[in-house]
Amino acid sequence: MKKIVVLSGAGVSAESGIKTFRDNGGLWEGFDVMDVATPEGWAKNQALVLDFYNQRRKQSHEVMPNEAHKILAKLEDKYEVTIITQNVDNLHEKASSSNVIHLHGELFKSRSTIDENLVYEIEGWELKIGDNCELGSQLRPHIVWFGEMVPMMEIAYKIVQKADIFIVIGTSLVVYPAASLVDYVSEKAELYVIDPNLPHISPRSHLHLIEKSATAGMKEILNILMK
Ligand code: OAD
Repeated sequence: MKKIVVLSGAGVSAESGIKTFRDNGGLWEGFDVMDVATPEGWAKNQALVLDFYNQRRKQSHEVMPNEAHKILAKLEDKYEVTIITQNVDNLHEKASSSNVIHLHGELFKSRSTIDENLVYEIEGWELKIGDNCELGSQLRPHIVWFGEMVPMMEIAYKIVQKADIFIVIGTSLVVYPAASLVDYVSEKAELYVIDPNLPHISPRSHLHLIEKSATAGMKEILNILMK
């Protein structure tokens, strides 16, 4: 079976009703990212940070995968597919994709503030001050904040190098190290990029730029890939 590897970003969830990061004038759902997505923001105001992710979680319970998520899952009928996503929502899983790697963490998980290996599922949508891990320390969202290491990168690099087909969908490719994955794609692989506002990609062979929304772009390449 040929291998498809997908790098997805906020744009793949846009048509499900989740806002992207950089289409909103530097604010993320009305908040400064430095207040809600950095270790410094957490040190300053834990209640604000917890509430911010509680609201995102609540919203995520209400949104559904769109046609792009569903087509990506359907590609498993013919290919070995791994989705490497920068998104913290669970829409790829809801659409039944089997192999999803979350580079920037997961909204529906929490983790200990004294042992990063203690990670828990969040039931419902709320994480509160006083919700502690088994060692007694406050739980924080299981999200990779700005300035923090991206633990899944090494695994992701290895997977990307083996791709026969690589699909970049709905990402501005401005956040590193995630954006550097594109540099690890084999010269022989087909590289598809789907975005209504195409990110910068260095010219190369087998490059297919599809200047469309995630759903329209995936419908287009479904016909090519399932032929
Ligand atoms: P961005 O907000 O930077 O980029 C979203 C991309 O989606 C842009 O290129 C848009 O043109 C595109 N887009 C918008 N609507 C679309 C649609 N309907 N279909 C397809 N594409 C569409 O989001 P990311 O690249 O995902 O990190 O951002 C990367 C990281 O920056 C995030 O994971 C997050 C953020 O800070 C952390 O939280 C650590």
